[in-house]
Amino acid sequence: MALLKLLRGACIYIYVDIPCKYKSTLALVGAAYVSYMVLKVSYYSINFVRTHLLYRIRPNNLRRFGDWAAVTGCTSGIGREYATELARQGFNLVLLNRPGRLDRVAQSIEETYDVRVIVIKADFSRGPGVYEEIAAQLRHLEVDVLVNNVGVMYDYPMPFADVPANKLWELVNVNVAAATMMTHLLLPGMLARRRGAVVNVASASAYMPTPHVAVYSATKSYVDFLSRALRHECRGSGVVVQTLVPFYVATRMTRYAESIARPCLTIPSACDFAVGAARTLGVAAHTTGYWCHSLQLMICWLVPEWLWMWGATMLNLGLRRQAHRRMMSKQHSSGGSVDGPWASPTHKPGKLAKSIVSHSEPSTHSGQHDRADPIRAASENDSVFLESSQY
Ligand SMILES: NC(=O)c1ccc[n+]([C@@H]2O[C@H](COP(=O)([O-])OP(=O)(O)OC[C@H]3O[C@@H](n4cnc5c(N)ncnc54)[C@H](OP(=O)(O)O)[C@@H]3O)[C@@H](O)[C@H]2O)c1
Repeated sequence: MALLKLLRGACIYIYVDIPCKYKSTLALVGAAYVSYMVLKVSYYSINFVRTHLLYRIRPNNLRRFGDWAAVTGCTSGIGREYATELARQGFNLVLLNRPGRLDRVAQSIEETYDVRVIVIKADFSRGPGVYEEIAAQLRHLEVDVLVNNVGVMYDYPMPFADVPANKLWELVNVNVAAATMMTHLLLPGMLARRRGAVVNVASASAYMPTPHVAVYSATKSYVDFLSRALRHECRGSGVVVQTLVPFYVATRMTRYAESIARPCLTIPSACDFAVGAARTLGVAAHTTGYWCHSLQLMICWLVPEWLWMWGATMLNLGLRRQAHRRMMSKQHSSGGSVDGPWASPTHKPGKLAKSIVSHSEPSTHSGQHDRADPIRAASENDSVFLESSQY
């Protein structure tokens, strides 16, 4: 974007016959703009080196923030690995998650790192009711590090109109309310003790509005804004507020599409991401948490909003196609039933697959649906699928 503007400015300057006195003013404006860009790029390059390279020379000891850390959404993915990294550094942990694997994860961390682990069984999708219970359990603890990690996404990208209402409430309750209320619970104590850190896990999709994951992107944008404003409010208080804005990380959340399910250079594993991100706490206030993602974000500065929207739409439609393919092949291979993230106790075997196929294949009965769009056809079935799927 900036480059395009610069080129356009240069063309105007060279080819349009502008009176001399205006030319020098334009030259000044151009020079100011170029200086601004040079300063910006230098600032971000220095930040990049400081955030992602210097810790290799000077390790980042997080114990300066305190003794107890709380992590939300910690039985899998980034949350689990972040909690493990904090335990490795000697933090006692409060793990907040839905029941299920919580006790097992807590026990494994406790035994491996010889730290105290307290579990709080909390389903954040339940809304306001859950926080009184959490507050009661945290009353006697001095929690100095809070990692607001818990988050949910759609099962796979889809147009806003197709997202079921209960999923929208889940996104708001888990992605927005949990970070807000957990911070509201624990920040006053940190401020009183004049030490602590709040880590808010947002997403790169908060950078600009992102079609086909519109609500997810909007909730992450909320987290980003809240986090940045709090950082300003907490300046000089001894409490650090950090926003993490990663691109794809290979976790359960990305398992719906094969091209983002496995770790690679641009898609770190949850462990690589969490270990790297923890090293940036207290070093960078706003970072992707992973070096390659930070380079990707730098490229995004040059991208205008329309190009971001177009690219995101193409990407998400592609991922959506992969998700449906994966679901269909799982149905075939399991003889009609589906497991993993697609599992459902109430799922009717073969029902969705059949309806997608029937929408995707040219109809032999009427000319009206002869060119049915498979994506559209699939989206008509999203609600059937989502209502019967477990998250
Ligand atoms: N993966 C990515 O590509 C990516 C990219 C950018 C940002 N992020 C963000 O990173 C954070 C972690 O994501 P992840 O990829 O690690 O996801 P994940 O592997 O799906 O883990 C999500 C964790 O949250 C828990 N959880 C979900 N709903 C909950 C609820 N209602 N109440 C309590 N706990 C709940 C899950 O527990 P259960 O076992 O009970 O389900 C699980 O432990 C999220 O905020 C996400 O938005 C992820």
